[in-house]
Amino acid sequence: MNQGKILVVDDEESQRLILKRALEQDGYWVQTAENGRLAQAYLRENYFDICLIDINLPDVDGLTLMKEAKESGVDSSIIIITGRATMQNAVQAMKNGAFDYVTKPLDLDEIAVLVQRAAESRRLLDEFRKLKHEVKKSFEPGNIVGESAAMQKVFKTVGQVVNTDATILIQGESGTGKELIAKTIHYNSPRWNKPFIAVHSAAVPRELLESELFGHEKGSFTGALEKRIGKFELAEEGTLFLDEIGDIPLVLQTKLLRVLQEKEFSRVGGREILKANVRILAATNQDLERAVREKKFRADLYFRLKVIPIYLPPLRERKGDIPLLVAHFIEKIRRDMGAQISGVSPDALRLLEEHTWPGNVRELENTLIRAAVLSPGPILFPKDIALHPKESLAVPELDGLSLEELLHHKLEDYFRRTEGVDVDNLYSLVVERVERPLIELTLKKTGGNQIRAAQILGINRNTLRKKILELHITPKKG
Ligand SMILES: Nc1ncnc2c1ncn2[C@@H]1O[C@H](COP(=O)(O)OP(=O)(O)OP(=O)(O)O)[C@@H](O)[C@H]1O
Ligand SMILES: [Mg+2]
Repeated sequence: MNQGKILVVDDEESQRLILKRALEQDGYWVQTAENGRLAQAYLRENYFDICLIDINLPDVDGLTLMKEAKESGVDSSIIIITGRATMQNAVQAMKNGAFDYVTKPLDLDEIAVLVQRAAESRRLLDEFRKLKHEVKKSFEPGNIVGESAAMQKVFKTVGQVVNTDATILIQGESGTGKELIAKTIHYNSPRWNKPFIAVHSAAVPRELLESELFGHEKGSFTGALEKRIGKFELAEEGTLFLDEIGDIPLVLQTKLLRVLQEKEFSRVGGREILKANVRILAATNQDLERAVREKKFRADLYFRLKVIPIYLPPLRERKGDIPLLVAHFIEKIRRDMGAQISGVSPDALRLLEEHTWPGNVRELENTLIRAAVLSPGPILFPKDIALHPKESLAVPELDGLSLEELLHHKLEDYFRRTEGVDVDNLYSLVVERVERPLIELTLKKTGGNQIRAAQILGINRNTLRKKILELHITPKKG
């Protein structure tokens, strides 16, 4: 059983042997070195989980050896062995980044416990790093889907800004992928290994937002019982995502502008000036330009934020992306949820392409998840897909049957009966049922204006007028 690799650096041979034997008994693989020079050579060649380093070495001081090793990228957990427990050595060891220190004469039980702890924390650290890499992988640019010209433009901008610290304003309706873009920028930037911290401004009560962002000192306001670290400090060296920035009150906008310009701030109720090494990504689904005109948003902050703007168009304006997104989500649902789903039927896809998606990509994703969970087979048919009724023109039921069910019954009839059913009748029956609500709804939305309704429907005005007469449609009040 290999518990990990350990390097023991000690000039006393008996000491080295005792440690080696004890640690090997506990299942570790052990290498020994009698001086600093040899230790350095081993560290260059091999990876060690843990190093036990005597502070008194013939050629180099153990603390210096540790420091140099760390600087050259060795990231083993280091335990320093000191002759005497002088306060100075102990402090210095910990300051230089030692995992811990032990004093001579060595207590093997103490060492066993310490080494075990170091190995455990190493495993946790490795685990954490692996997780971080996995998170990073899930934000590879390939996971953002879009063929449309608008999305290609977005990708290009993202590519241009990932390696910079530029502030970026991401605009788009709800569910268009603003947070996805923000995370993709972060996880592909040099800051990826540092925190990505999001502040959802609209979700935080206004009076607490300042403290949420900048932290506060103990007693700075009623209820501030403890000192609190704000998101700016938590995001240090990383990225701060200011979501729904349009909801930040004017007073706070001023403070925010100062951080953006001076790169410093202070906690609420505090005098200390803190440096902010943070990259800011902001997002909003509001029309900030209008907010500026209405004096709800500071113009200077707006211009400071939108140095590099990214605009995500609503899904209804890039319907060509729908098939690709559907394929992407089907694959994701199968992978992440283990759902037995492999695709959508052509008419189901058409249904998805025709929907206006007021909730944009998120609504599409949720619709597919719901359908995948509820559908009996691996292919999604129109009947499996429930669209938001308010905005969609769902095919109305025919005598209590869905369009597909009706078709099914009619076809069954057709093949059973030799004389056949009246197919023309079926055609006009279905078309009429679809046409009627389509025209009625459009007229309702245009307040009965036939010219605009015809424009929206993309049909000739005379055709529309003819249909209205044919179907006996009477204008309804919207
Ligand atoms: N182009 C895309 N490719 C793949 N997935 C996408 C794309 N755009 C959005 N998504 C997915 O859609 C969902 C919604 O995206 P996101 O949360 O980023 O939207 P948002 O603009 O921040 O919405 P809101 O304004 O409501 O917060 C997420 O699951 C995201 O992964
Ligand atoms: Mg969002």
